[in-house]
Amino acid sequence: MAPEALVQAGTPDLFTPYKMGKFNLSHRVVLAPLTRCRAVNEIPFEAHALYYSQRATPGGLLISEGTSPSNTAAGYPHVPGIYTEEQVEAWKKVVDAVHAKGSIFFCQLWHVGRASHHVYQPNGDSPISSTKKRISDKWDPLLALPDGSNGKFSKPRALETYEIPQVVEHYRQAALNSIRAGFDGVEIHGAHGYLIDQFLKDGINDRTDKYGGSLENRCRFLIEVVEAVVSAIGAERVSVRISPAIDLMDATDSDPLGLGLAVIERLNKLQLKFGSKLAYLHVTRPRFAAFVTKGNYDEVVEAKFIKTLRDAYDGTFIASGGYTLELGQKSLANGEADLISYGRLFISNPDLVLRFKLNAPLNNYDRKTFYTKDPVVGFTDYPFLNQGVVDNKEE
Ligand SMILES: Cc1cc2nc3c(=O)[nH]c(=O)nc-3n(C[C@H](O)[C@H](O)[C@H](O)COP(=O)(O)O)c2cc1C
Repeated sequence: MAPEALVQAGTPDLFTPYKMGKFNLSHRVVLAPLTRCRAVNEIPFEAHALYYSQRATPGGLLISEGTSPSNTAAGYPHVPGIYTEEQVEAWKKVVDAVHAKGSIFFCQLWHVGRASHHVYQPNGDSPISSTKKRISDKWDPLLALPDGSNGKFSKPRALETYEIPQVVEHYRQAALNSIRAGFDGVEIHGAHGYLIDQFLKDGINDRTDKYGGSLENRCRFLIEVVEAVVSAIGAERVSVRISPAIDLMDATDSDPLGLGLAVIERLNKLQLKFGSKLAYLHVTRPRFAAFVTKGNYDEVVEAKFIKTLRDAYDGTFIASGGYTLELGQKSLANGEADLISYGRLFISNPDLVLRFKLNAPLNNYDRKTFYTKDPVVGFTDYPFLNQGVVDNKEE
């Protein structure tokens, strides 16, 4: 079936151009942020320039892999940072390669908080978080040590109230560095059980200061980060990612919808205060957690959940999680999102946009090479359409 047949006349589809604030997108197939663990000494290199430029299209939107805003932020091996001059210089070459293809490129700022191990921390310190509770044992298989083996998440240290402005400052500085590196904007990673989510979720945040307890207090850290980053680089270059209904690494909340709406209400208010919209809000659907945990999800409940958040947010809304060509078209037609981000399918199909356009067969992805260090295998060697199709059977 031709992709055009998947949408009704008059409704937007993945190939309808979209104006995202100051950015003119020529289609709505976004590269989701994807940690690939290929940086050398936390610095991206030529392989990254090739990897991202392979996935770049004129007027496309790419979001970088999670990138550390400070030296306490990492919890996976070989993750790039954007807090030293050397890192900024290295990113410039990657960004240039993407811009040469005409894409817009946002840097995802990612602090893992307690989802770390003391080997990743300066002086072997405890990772920082909103809490001193350790992530429960059932999630330990998600922790990769520098040699690629699994370990146990370390017990974190709860940030003192007076330390929080310093962490906010790291995001602000990293955003400035991102712009200096040439990125068009930043995405603040507030999802998937990492630092900001550790403040947002009442299943984790057990603080009694102004950053814990009420919704107002739990949202405070995120909102302070957004305000600081906007003050540095302007609202139109700033975006936020959340996943209120995703319970990765114990990131549960007693009222996921209420939490999502509370964040959105505050972002809407900030936009009024700034007199400008943020670039976008990016929400991950629980379907993504089901992929990690092999759990179940209810498609109807999820679609309603995402639509409620979409309708509440006053700006560009990106949805992510388990989208195919058909589901993406359907979601856009139903008004569940303005843009769709693709993760795993974009790993294995550098020319995903073209393949979607032609409704061509897709390469399957090989999960085993998602996070390996090899600069080529599973990173830049997935074939383009004119090179054939690979069929890595999903385990
Ligand atoms: C290998 C891999 C790495 C990921 N890394 C990140 C990341 O760095 N930051 C982030 O916000 N999400 C990350 N995600 C989640 C993706 O951005 C995306 O939301 C998720 O894969 C669901 O989309 P998909 O079903 O199209 O793959 C990652 C997912 C995968 C599979």
